[in-house]
Amino acid sequence: MFPSEVTDFFKNQKTPFYYYDLDVLNATLEQIKKYGLSKGYRVHFALKSNNQPKILEIIKASGLGADCVSGGEIQRAINSGFFPNEIAFAGVGKSDEEIELGLKHDIFCFNCESPQELEVLNELAEQHGKQARIALRINPNVEADTHKYITTGLNENKFGINESELDLVLDKLPELENLELVGIHFHIGSQIEKFDPFRELCSKANSLNEHIESKGFKLTVINVGGGFGINYEHPNDSSVPDFEKFFGLFEENIELKNHQQLHFELGRSVIGQSGSLITKVLYTKKGISKNFAIVDAGMTELIRPALYQAAHRIDVLTSSKEEKIYDVVGPICESSDTFRKDVSIPEVERGDLIAIRSAGAYGEVMRSAYNLREANPSVYSDEILIPKT
Ligand code: LLP
Repeated sequence: MFPSEVTDFFKNQKTPFYYYDLDVLNATLEQIKKYGLSKGYRVHFALKSNNQPKILEIIKASGLGADCVSGGEIQRAINSGFFPNEIAFAGVGKSDEEIELGLKHDIFCFNCESPQELEVLNELAEQHGKQARIALRINPNVEADTHKYITTGLNENKFGINESELDLVLDKLPELENLELVGIHFHIGSQIEKFDPFRELCSKANSLNEHIESKGFKLTVINVGGGFGINYEHPNDSSVPDFEKFFGLFEENIELKNHQQLHFELGRSVIGQSGSLITKVLYTKKGISKNFAIVDAGMTELIRPALYQAAHRIDVLTSSKEEKIYDVVGPICESSDTFRKDVSIPEVERGDLIAIRSAGAYGEVMRSAYNLREANPSVYSDEILIPKT
């Protein structure tokens, strides 16, 4: 991933910055096409995981749609070339202005999360003389077995319409004349590494599909969300997630009717392994019981370790000295500003470059300006001339 030409290029860039390896992204998209799109599945890319225009253009060109959760994301998707009929709008708290933006562009679908949202959407659609296509997001109460902050499909979570309310909602729908029910939607969580939760989701989706169709509704979209996890420990060996297995699981377990299409909303598994945060060692320091490597990136550039205790692999790009145990920390005045504790990496000194791996998803998008820190421009692999061997 980091041939010497790439590292040399990095030496002249202002750190910290995000680096995207487009070969990894393209290889990932090839697998999604081969094992997903070719089966007639539709994949919407979750812009919340990465919204860099250059990344979006590549993803759009591969035939994926856009899964948006704000007016800003809808606008970004449109600016990056997605057609409105390729855009789905999800989110538990859509504002009136955001809904109006979606209506104005006549987007593909609103994924609705509560009875009240349906009424508001219907009202706004009527005011604007529009018909809105909707999918009901149903909370399936399936344990995703991931970090509690990114578990979304349990009864205690704020997301979706509870099964107990579903019949009431279905009874009410015919009165909401500016809404057209096209599908059902689920999303049970993110960074899901085991396959059982997805199997359980399929069985829930199958029975709800039966139930709703038996009431006379015609569902054309069965949307099972995203959540497919990536390998943070071994980004080189597993640079492309096993989409054959992932899509294969759904092929085996989901029961579609002839008029139905299976939809996914993938974020992390599409872009996660393509991105790294490149940072420079500012200082090394010996604590009482620790060696610290203090780098120029902090939780402001990548908050995942601080927020979810995520362990991103750390590669030292400019030292091959003997390994030493470090806490790799950022410059922010909080102890949570730590990338890794007690990690064994080649001995580093001031000026060494480090790559914090698997940061393509939920990295750059979650950057903050805390401490008035400035953002440096991202670097893409196609900007670096690497001689072909
Ligand atoms: N669909 C819905 C409704 C979602 O809420 C999400 C992510 C996705 C799709 C995409 O899920 P993915 O395929 O990326 O797992 N900031 C956290 C992750 C938050 C995920 C939120 N929802 C992190 O850094 O781990």
